[in-house]
Amino acid sequence: MAKLPIIIDCDPGQDDAIMLMMAFANRDTLNILGVVAVGGNVPLDKTARNARIICEITGQTDIPVYAGCARPLARDLHTAAEVHGNEGMNGVDVYEPEMPLQKKNGVNFIIDSLRAHNDGEVVLIITGPMTNIAAAFIQAPDIKTKVKEIVLMGGGMAICGNVTPSAEYNIYADPHAAEIIYKSGIKTVSMGLDVTHQVLASKARIAAMKAIGNKVADTAAAILGPYSFFDSEKYGTDGGPLHDPCTIAYVLDPSLFQTKLCNLEVETKSELTLGHTSVDFWHGMPEDERPHNTYWAYGVDDEGVYDLLNKCLKSYS
Ligand code: BDR
Ligand code: CA
Repeated sequence: MAKLPIIIDCDPGQDDAIMLMMAFANRDTLNILGVVAVGGNVPLDKTARNARIICEITGQTDIPVYAGCARPLARDLHTAAEVHGNEGMNGVDVYEPEMPLQKKNGVNFIIDSLRAHNDGEVVLIITGPMTNIAAAFIQAPDIKTKVKEIVLMGGGMAICGNVTPSAEYNIYADPHAAEIIYKSGIKTVSMGLDVTHQVLASKARIAAMKAIGNKVADTAAAILGPYSFFDSEKYGTDGGPLHDPCTIAYVLDPSLFQTKLCNLEVETKSELTLGHTSVDFWHGMPEDERPHNTYWAYGVDDEGVYDLLNKCLKSYS
């Protein structure tokens, strides 16, 4: 069977790092065209470096890594270093990778790479602020037809926000970019806080990961220790939510998630609720006014996601 061509747009980021480990373990079915970093959890130079560190740790240095936009479309960069650490990957001793960063700008890579494919062929994964893909759509609207679907981590409905009471980080960081994605007319699948908060990195799950006993699994466990501790304190749960890996888990096995096709609108104006995602889960609004633009994930087999993650980590043995 032909491999599924994907582009991964991310801001590693502790949970982004785990997402990359998961994706890289499946190159027999995923054709990873490239990884594009964006300024998000930490500034762009660090997210682009961290993506390459994960390529080196996993031994996947032939995957090209690009740097895209350093800041959101219309706002200053709002990092999340308090969660992920100043270097963006608490738990990993970061270093300057040997693997080079690609010279081409990440947005141009997205455009050129999509143009080289057929209509409806490429899946875009987004696990950071959505600036790079939005910029690509602004610069080259013709590329939209090439996209099969966009699977993204962002937003919240039942669990409204994590960075403000009303907003999830990736959408809050660049709400204008998120609005462009949701109004693109492309099928989107949204892994928001409602599901990611069910996929907890508990102490027992981290111990099981550590027990796998290879370098990649050890790194994943080392990342999830401090990450989970920060969020466990915040939410009073046994373990923090594992956000970004839900995107790859969905691509690998959509049956792990329950989704419903809904309208989602992004708040881009209000100071109080900037970045809020208004999800019309019960279809209260007429569809000609608010088109159904996303498959909103509302249920997840969390045990199944961890089984899949561990299977991916074991494959590095
Ligand atoms: C999202 O925000 C970031 O800090 C994480 O990497 C994840 O993509 C969760 O709200
Ligand atoms: Ca992220």
